[in-house]
Amino acid sequence: MRCGVRRNDGKKKRRARRTMPEFRHGFLSNPKVQEYQSAIGTPGHSEGHSVTSLFAGCGGLDLGLLGGFNVLGRSFVAQPFRIIQAVDNSPDAVEAYRLNLGSEIREADLRTVSVSDLAPATLLTGGFPCQDFSSSGPKTGFDGRRGRLYRVMIEYAEAHQPKIVLGENVPHLARLNKGKYLETILRELEAVGYRCDVWDLYAPDFGVPQSRRRLFIVGVRRDLPGFPVKPCGTFLGGHVSIDEALEDLEAVVDETVTNQSQYFVATRASSGGGQGDHTNKVGEVAYCIRANARGRIQFHYRLDRRLTVRECARLQTFPDEFVFPFSTQRNLTLIGNAVPPMLAHAVGERLADYLQAVDEADADEVAMLQDERVATVLHRAPQTTLFSTEAR
Ligand SMILES: C[S@@+](CC[C@H](N)C(=O)[O-])C[C@H]1O[C@@H](n2cnc3c(N)ncnc32)[C@H](O)[C@@H]1O
Repeated sequence: MRCGVRRNDGKKKRRARRTMPEFRHGFLSNPKVQEYQSAIGTPGHSEGHSVTSLFAGCGGLDLGLLGGFNVLGRSFVAQPFRIIQAVDNSPDAVEAYRLNLGSEIREADLRTVSVSDLAPATLLTGGFPCQDFSSSGPKTGFDGRRGRLYRVMIEYAEAHQPKIVLGENVPHLARLNKGKYLETILRELEAVGYRCDVWDLYAPDFGVPQSRRRLFIVGVRRDLPGFPVKPCGTFLGGHVSIDEALEDLEAVVDETVTNQSQYFVATRASSGGGQGDHTNKVGEVAYCIRANARGRIQFHYRLDRRLTVRECARLQTFPDEFVFPFSTQRNLTLIGNAVPPMLAHAVGERLADYLQAVDEADADEVAMLQDERVATVLHRAPQTTLFSTEAR
């Protein structure tokens, strides 16, 4: 495989390293994971809230919801969710998901799936494709090839009435077409029985060592009281820097840490076409990890090379036992598309608290919202927020 970038120093173009990962286990089957999960909980147990995961990718969002992983020296406890079905149309995503998280995933094009063929669940999630809304994409919005894929989430919500709908997308969605695309999505979700809010979360505030901002569209079924509390960053006082996250990998050049031998050589791109090089800086969070590694090329903060697949996975807060089984570019696509599991864990925690409070409160308490704990956890329902369609 060629590197695909021209050198700007006049020297001969160098080839990418042709390495493939070496591993014996996926995430869940890794004995090390099983060992630490005995302390922090094994995710996916039968009494957890059922989840349908659409556009599941390799499972970043799902891993975060499930919990039961260690990354960057921290433990993320298992949460009461259970994925009952996951769907994606990318064979790579499906294979990586199956290898790491289990067999609930199936490969299907959601444009052709009838929602009546999907099982009902308490929580519907979906990071619907964002290329048509992204600031670095064609900005074609609903007119783009994938611009209307969010509709399958609306149709599922209408047919199965999950208690919560969680959509995820790029922040540019709120700005594109003067915010009208986002407004339309919210209005359509409201029309099928949901109250909505939008959480704009900056991943470094949640310990993710990478500059990444994401919108979470949260819909709660109209008959339910209150609303989940928006997660607060716990790293507001100090973000985790790229060197803190990757320092121990500097001397690793082989597969003793899976995917660490996979990277493109240090060929610098000549500038142009909006592309260019970014060299990460010690003491700062990394640049955003993108699915297309050929745009905005990221270099290591200290070494004369691009980031490895494992380093990108770490910066996305995938645990080291979560393996990516393909060649460099294919792996980077899966990683760049994902929601950082650490960020997803923080969102999942709020949804789990809310669902528990709703389940435990008896009808009168819910109606009056006088129970202090319930009132705190349930939060007030959104009335008129910047994004809410409630008042329209
Ligand atoms: C932004 S990624 C989701 C990543 C995922 N949330 C995660 O955390 O790993 C969007 C996903 O939608 C999938 N996708 C795009 N078009 C699709 C379609 N027509 N049917 C099913 N999945 C599709 C892509 O393969 C991609 O994995």
